[in-house]
Amino acid sequence: MDKRLFLHSVAGAALVLAASQAAAQNTPFKIGLILPMTGQSASTGRQIEAAARLYMAQNGDTVAGRKIELVVKDDTGLPDVTKRIAQELVVNEKVGVLAGFGLTPLALATAPIATQSRTPEVVMAAATSSITEASPFIIRSSFTLPQVTVSMADWAPKNGIKKVVTLVSDYGPGIDAEKFFKERFTFNGGQVVDALRVPLRNPDFAPFLQKVRDEKPDALFVFVPSGAGAAVMKQFLERGMDKAGIRLIGTGDVTDDDQLNDMGDGALGVVTAHHYSTDHDSALNKQFVAAFKKANPGMRPNFMAVGGYDGMRVIYQALKATNGKGDGPALLAAMKGQIFESPRGQVFIDAQTRDIVQNVYLRKVEKKNGELYNVEFDVLKDVKDPGKNR
Ligand code: DHB
Repeated sequence: MDKRLFLHSVAGAALVLAASQAAAQNTPFKIGLILPMTGQSASTGRQIEAAARLYMAQNGDTVAGRKIELVVKDDTGLPDVTKRIAQELVVNEKVGVLAGFGLTPLALATAPIATQSRTPEVVMAAATSSITEASPFIIRSSFTLPQVTVSMADWAPKNGIKKVVTLVSDYGPGIDAEKFFKERFTFNGGQVVDALRVPLRNPDFAPFLQKVRDEKPDALFVFVPSGAGAAVMKQFLERGMDKAGIRLIGTGDVTDDDQLNDMGDGALGVVTAHHYSTDHDSALNKQFVAAFKKANPGMRPNFMAVGGYDGMRVIYQALKATNGKGDGPALLAAMKGQIFESPRGQVFIDAQTRDIVQNVYLRKVEKKNGELYNVEFDVLKDVKDPGKNR
């Protein structure tokens, strides 16, 4: 065996050993929650951590006789850091589950560790379709870009939008959004006249928006990750694109509930498709929003919070179903097929794909009691990720 291969297999053996030690009964069950708590995606980390802590406050910190310990680590949004932290959490902290993952590259960087150590990786935020295919140990509680994008591509042509320019962040979820929007919108008789990609890191939207203004489409379709929507909205309005007759449409990441209230009345009327709105009208959601706000003054929960909250539910339920044993493959099996009511509506973890099946809502920004909300006006029930089985 050459030296590299040998070291690789030693590391692999250490991971497997660590994972089996994590299964010991009566020791605390640790959940490694890896999130961007600083940097461009810090709001994602803040939302998910707050929601995970709320879930624990509401459901207790003991499951099947084991004390739950949440180990929160900041990966600053950089995949090399995520990977190093994941390795440390499995080998040294003996976590039973890895969770979080604020961006697609962070979820993908951890996939080989999940596979080697046979530790479930619960993806609470990242949303590129292919993530669940990177490891058989990945389960997702967030959403996928194809899932929400095709609903928008069905709605737009029925509502006077025939010519569209797409503008997406240039990485996994953006490329999914661009591709699935174009495919479905074209199928529906629409035309994508230009497809623009902006860098993920420190994007300057101005030159792209200028180009769109000159192209004069009926609408601009946008995907940017959580936290970047306010900048797009600001520059869209500053350039008078709305006054020039160009509508803004997109996935709900753009009118993120975390930022929407600060976007101002210029955001009114913007239509997006997404799986969760703070304004979702159900008793469970009203309870969730009220409890989240009470525990986190000044914040309101967005779709990231719901991904975190439901991800914790999936973990708790799996630990309960396996009588606290905490063995990776057994936990994974107990995560598959879970059906439950989420603050977003009914959801289902598809046992085949390990991805979430859920409702997708069409929503319009409106003012209610002096605050801006994404108000749902239509629903597509039980949408599977269209990115699978193609
Ligand atoms: C991803 C990140 C986001 O903040 C978001 O809103 C959607 C997708 C991602 O990196 O997968």
